[in-house]
Amino acid sequence: MTQPTRLLFVCLGNICRSPAGENVMNHLLQREGLSGRFEVDSAGTAGYHIGGPPDSRMIAAGRARGVPMKGRARQVTVDDFAEFDWIFAMDRSNYRDLEVLKRKCNGPRAKLVLFCDFCEAHSQKEVPDPYCGGPEDFEEVLDLLEDGCGAFIRKWKSGELK
Ligand code: 4NP
Repeated sequence: MTQPTRLLFVCLGNICRSPAGENVMNHLLQREGLSGRFEVDSAGTAGYHIGGPPDSRMIAAGRARGVPMKGRARQVTVDDFAEFDWIFAMDRSNYRDLEVLKRKCNGPRAKLVLFCDFCEAHSQKEVPDPYCGGPEDFEEVLDLLEDGCGAFIRKWKSGELK
C-alpha cells in the first residue's frame, strides 16, 4: 500500500481558516472516493485557542454548504515539517512564521506553500483572516478553500504533484 499523502492547513488561531481548510479538503476527498489516500490536519501558528473548537461562525458557514467543521485547535510544531508532505499557509504572515519553523527542522519533508497558489477561479493571493469580519468574510474563506482544494485534488489526480 502506498503511504497516504499528508496535508496540513495552517492559519493563525486554528479556529477559522485552517480547520475550514481541513474539513473542506476532507469533504471533497470523500466525494472523490480518495479519503483513504490522504490524511488531513490543521494547526495554528499561535497558541491562543489550543483545545478549542472551530469558531461558531465558521461552523455555521460550513454547515450551510454541507461541510461539518470538526477538530480541536493545536499549535504547529517543528516536527510537523518532518511528518507532513504539504503545509498550506493561509496568508503571508503565516507563511513567514512557518518558514522560521521549517529552518529549525532537521530533514524537513513538507513542501511549504501559500494556499492561494492553488486557486484557479480567484486572484486573491491570501485567504484573509475573517476573525474580526462579518458573515461575508467567512463565505469568502470557504469560496477560496473550495477553489484551491478542488484544484489541488485535480492536480494530484493528474500526477503533477507526486
Ligand atoms: P484564524 O482566525 O487564524 O483563521 O483561526 C483567527 C482566530 C483567532 C484570532 C485571530 C485570527 N485571535 O486573535 O484570537
